[in-house]
Amino acid sequence: MFKEQSIGKVLTENDVTDENIFLNRRKMLKRMGFVGAGSLLATSQNANAISLFGKKKESFVTAPVAHTKNTEYQITETLTPESKVTTYNNFYEFGTSKSDPAENAQSLTVNPWEVKITGAVEKSFTLSYDDLYNMFDIEERIYRFRCVEAWSMVIPWLGFPLYKLIKKAKPLSKAKYVAFKTLYRPSEMPGQKSRFVGGGIDYPYVEGLRMDEAMHPLTLMSVGVYGKTLPPQNGAPIRLVVPWKYGFKSIKSVVEINFTEKEPPTTWNILAPQEYGFYANVNPAVSHPRWSQASERRITSGGLLTRNRIDTLPFNGYSEVASLYDGMNLRKYY
Ligand code: MTE
Repeated sequence: MFKEQSIGKVLTENDVTDENIFLNRRKMLKRMGFVGAGSLLATSQNANAISLFGKKKESFVTAPVAHTKNTEYQITETLTPESKVTTYNNFYEFGTSKSDPAENAQSLTVNPWEVKITGAVEKSFTLSYDDLYNMFDIEERIYRFRCVEAWSMVIPWLGFPLYKLIKKAKPLSKAKYVAFKTLYRPSEMPGQKSRFVGGGIDYPYVEGLRMDEAMHPLTLMSVGVYGKTLPPQNGAPIRLVVPWKYGFKSIKSVVEINFTEKEPPTTWNILAPQEYGFYANVNPAVSHPRWSQASERRITSGGLLTRNRIDTLPFNGYSEVASLYDGMNLRKYY
């Protein structure tokens, strides 16, 4: 599937905007009775900037999101720096190199946006861009994030637990799984136009969870990172984060959440079923056919020569989810 590649450099929002201006505007808008990041983004998205090489380059601009810190999920491990979280990415719709998403996703249109809640539910509905920030309280949660390629990060996500959304939709008793779909927009996603650029994936990218996994309090719908709205390369404006599973389950730029009776197809399982299962729980005891999963390279502020190989923990250290899989053979259901 993946080969590790070197980290690319793109402009961050700090190069093109003064965060204090946004913070002050946000306070003012809050006093005036407006909440949510949507009101700010309308004017701040897709600003133009001059790149370090003097080339004019579009750069997406993120905005602060009002949130509270969820004290249950404030782990003490050192955070992966924002500059790495936002430049070392997998988002094949924008290319297969780690630096491609930050390079190619900057002009993705994220507002307006719609997330459709469909399928076996009492109440189907559609979330607008502003709903993503206003429908539920936004929490900061610091999670470990373990990619199947054996690298990992520690990331301060902003978002709300998926179970809150599921409760609103009122699934019918026959709903056993939740299927997720990424935006399909080849005009803005070069990987969807060319199988060569997009790694041979049949788009749109799709993922799924069993209902009890989707309802678990750890399962997060993320709308931000490092205190601000998600940059496109990280899955703006809304992506899933399931911290006890390999990163490919954490589908980006979600446009549909569909409740189903049957286990839904998932992108990497379709592409290479022997290598990537539906469950994809982080498991040091079950190797990938081409490499061991016993340890991982933690991405920190150090350079490539930093010693940062650590043991991988079952369920990525989130042992509270183990009971979801009682009686299941996790070698078979990898
Ligand atoms: N979602 C979509 N739509 N397309 C992708 O290529 N890559 C997955 C996941 N979600 C991917 C995706 C993989 S393999 C990983 S490891 C994570 O996103 C990476 O998330 P990050 O770039 O925010 O670290």
